Amino acid sequence: MPIVTAKEILIEAADGKYAVGAFNITNLIQMEAVVEAAIDKKAPLIIQTSVAPSKFLGRDVLVAIYKTLAESAPIPICLHLDHCQEVEYCKQCADAGYTNIMIDASKQNFEENIRQTKEVADYCHAIEGISVEGELGTVSGVEDQVKVAEDETALANPTQAVEFVKMTGIDIFAPAIGTAHGVYKTKNPKVDFERLGKINQLINSDGIKTPLVIHGGTGLPEDYVKRLVDMGGAKFNVSTDLKYTLIDTTYNYITENRDQYNPGKVDSAVKDAIRKLIGKWIDMLGCAGKT
Ligand code: 13P
Repeated sequence: MPIVTAKEILIEAADGKYAVGAFNITNLIQMEAVVEAAIDKKAPLIIQTSVAPSKFLGRDVLVAIYKTLAESAPIPICLHLDHCQEVEYCKQCADAGYTNIMIDASKQNFEENIRQTKEVADYCHAIEGISVEGELGTVSGVEDQVKVAEDETALANPTQAVEFVKMTGIDIFAPAIGTAHGVYKTKNPKVDFERLGKINQLINSDGIKTPLVIHGGTGLPEDYVKRLVDMGGAKFNVSTDLKYTLIDTTYNYITENRDQYNPGKVDSAVKDAIRKLIGKWIDMLGCAGKT
């Protein structure tokens, strides 16, 4: 299929009350695994790279592989740059061919967050085929180079959220509502569902204009995930789960087959494990069969 922006698939998701999985990958095996899992499930897909893997693998290389995989897949696939705190790198990835860019200026004050987010949104919108995600409030935990301590966490203010979306011109919006990057330390994390519902109502009650993003997917109980989707979450970010699956599967395979020197078999084991993981997420998000 032709490549797509996140906005295109997320408007449909928000309308249909399901969420699209946005999975952070760090290498080609993971990228192929998430694509294969989404094809198996006939689900729309967002592939994400945070800034470190994007720089390490090279944005042009990533875009070339993305385009090859996406154009031959029978499902819509978007390539998203996740939590980029540098305006210039957002622009470089937009130029390279990413189809969704997240400028994360959420650690700045409100005015500066608006200024940087608007600058990236204006730049991307001048190029065809790119949508933009912005964040208000801060999501605690660690995602790549973005680190927010628990006592620095600030939830998004609903009134400011409306102003932020209006002033920046973003296409999709990530309000901080208490979810966190990494592994949750408690069984029942404190997530402010009502805040999400209120923000969704203020922004999208006359028809979906700006689909909402949930960060910090890993470790959320299934009933939380379903409730967040129900309250307006249309893009659901999952990263740590993929990292753990990659490392644990590699470690276990090598430990059990210490006398083997066959990298292809390690890769296959990782690919299978990631495919299974993504299949479960797609089912939980309700997006299987939505293409
Ligand atoms: P987790 O690592 O908690 O799954 O969060 C992913 C995320 O929100 C990426 O932006």
